[in-house]
Amino acid sequence: MLVSATEMLKKAKAGHYAVGQFNINNLEWTKSILATAQELNSPVILGVSEGAGKYMTGYKTVAAMVKAMIEEMNITVPVALHLDHGSYEGCYKCIKAGFSSIMFDGSHYPIEENVEKTKELVKVAHAMGLSIEAEVGSIGGEEDGVVGMGECADPNECKAIADLGIDFLAAGIGNIHGKYPENWKGLSFDTLAAIQEKTGEMPLVLHGGTGIPADMIKKAIDLGVAKINVNTECQLSFAAATREYIEAGKDQQGKGFDPRKLLAPGAAAIKETVKEKMELFGSVGKA
Ligand code: 13P
Repeated sequence: MLVSATEMLKKAKAGHYAVGQFNINNLEWTKSILATAQELNSPVILGVSEGAGKYMTGYKTVAAMVKAMIEEMNITVPVALHLDHGSYEGCYKCIKAGFSSIMFDGSHYPIEENVEKTKELVKVAHAMGLSIEAEVGSIGGEEDGVVGMGECADPNECKAIADLGIDFLAAGIGNIHGKYPENWKGLSFDTLAAIQEKTGEMPLVLHGGTGIPADMIKKAIDLGVAKINVNTECQLSFAAATREYIEAGKDQQGKGFDPRKLLAPGAAAIKETVKEKMELFGSVGKA
């Protein structure tokens, strides 16, 4: 069932668990994530970056594919289709294309402009029944060519954005996209606690879910994180399983070159990664 992410994240925050946002790249990704959510009776958020949206030929294609898969696969758990790190223009495109949720990433604008644009998008998104995420304090690492420094958000700015009526808030707490470097200092729980204190009931979002140790994930959930984004980890497990298949020469045996066979180990690996994360985040059985 395609829904906005508002209710599932309110429930998660109240129930002290987190819902995973798993980014999709193609049909295999989407099918694996939806199947796992249904098997585990877990709510799920499908994240689409602007780059991935473009790769899949556009947001309309993505929305049509996801809606059709939900129907054809008999998916009854709550599924949100969410724009990840959306630009101002990208948000409008996804609202029009039939997404159920958007993230407006105005973190690179001066705070006044971030506030102004977020405010406008909240109004439009809510009028159309979509949920909306906003960001304060840039998330480190590289995503679609945008490099963030992994700064910690200012809790007062978080409050200013949270008060605009957004549904969930991404705040930098030293997290970064992609693999964490050896010298990473870990998440700043002091910052997270200060943000939670200022923003109260607001579900908080932890980006850069790949490679954060389990104990840090659990502590973040205790401190108000209700949505955790995972992208790179599914890509790594897909790549490793595909490499193993090819290195074993299986693509050269019988009809092993058939894409339905060639991509099967990678798709199964994504399912395994999503399952591990849903168990860690505590969303299993919460649909
Ligand atoms: P990772 O690629 O580090 O898992 O981060 C995903 C993310 O935060 C998407 O917004």
